[in-house]
Amino acid sequence: MPRNSVAKQANVHDRQDCHFSAIPERFNAVTRILKADAQGVAAAAEVLAAGGLVAFPTETVYGLGADASNPAAVARIYAAKGRPAFNPLIAHVSNVAAAQREAAAPAKALALAAHFWPGPLTLVAPVAPTGCVCDLARAGLSSVALRAPAHPAAQALLAAFGRPFAAPSDNRSGHVSPVTAQHVAADLSGKVDLILDGGRTPAGLESTIVSFTGSEPTLLRPGALPRADIEAMLGAHLAAPTSAAIVAPGMTAAHYAPAAYLRIDAESLAQDEYGLDFGGQLSAHAPAGRIVCDLSPAGDMIEAAANLFAALRDIDVRGLTKIAVAPIPDEGIGEAINDRLQRAAVR
Ligand code: TXA
Ligand code: MG
Repeated sequence: MPRNSVAKQANVHDRQDCHFSAIPERFNAVTRILKADAQGVAAAAEVLAAGGLVAFPTETVYGLGADASNPAAVARIYAAKGRPAFNPLIAHVSNVAAAQREAAAPAKALALAAHFWPGPLTLVAPVAPTGCVCDLARAGLSSVALRAPAHPAAQALLAAFGRPFAAPSDNRSGHVSPVTAQHVAADLSGKVDLILDGGRTPAGLESTIVSFTGSEPTLLRPGALPRADIEAMLGAHLAAPTSAAIVAPGMTAAHYAPAAYLRIDAESLAQDEYGLDFGGQLSAHAPAGRIVCDLSPAGDMIEAAANLFAALRDIDVRGLTKIAVAPIPDEGIGEAINDRLQRAAVR
């Protein structure tokens, strides 16, 4: 795939139509394992730029990385992990300056970052207008989770790639997080393009997540950085998450529920409906101009996942009120797509 097509995909949310020109050739058939040295890092940066998946060591656990600005690449993370829903992912950045391009973080958050980064602290803050982390990586939220990892291989990869990468812990959903390249391979061999082997990760426990989206700093997940260290630096206690601060997929769905009434699993269009198609199922019998978009004309579920949030947004931009959504197979990442569509259809 040519390099410049990544930039093209990064802009997909800004466009009115929601088709990718092409989904890259089949990734992940063979998983390469390379030492996390300069050569390995350079190869990994190339894989990321081409929209592929790289497993890499951090000081906490191994991460499963993809270009955070490329929804098709991010969709592959969810597919590889077998995540039941589009949970928001952590975007990994080099430093505080890079984080400030992504989030409108309050002064207290920046002070924490300046003190503890690079390190096992993840900050959640409102998205900045200059941010490039795509909707899918944020699961449609108006906030973004950011962390600058301390592992030299992760830092070298960020420097070589030059943009943030989204990376959840590198296990299959429901398994414990991997702390060696062998764990990663056992879970995800054949589903990730490249594993950077940096030996056992030092912390072996995920980062601590603190949210700055409410009225006070809130501990969303205890992790490798002790709460007391953060509280000492802040000079204040961290709040416990209220139910509103806990990010459940259902909450994120409400954020993207279009104003339109969505009828899912539709076999054909009613007279007053517009169609959101998949694999050309509705197009064949629809009057001209009535298909808003086909999430994947080729019936590729990863492409459909990558296009979903842009399509829901487009429906609102166009002021459409009644949408028939073509059936999408409930397999693999299709389960997450259907979960999101069902929630978007609930009034
Ligand atoms: O140590 C770590 O943090 C590892 C390494 C790879 O960096 N990553 C990791 O990512 O544990 P993951 O995806 O397994 O966990 C991310 C957590 C999830 O619980 C998710 O709900 C939360 O971060 N999260 C992400 N974005 C959020 C947001 N905008 N608001 C609230 N929570 C968010
Ligand atoms: Mg995890």
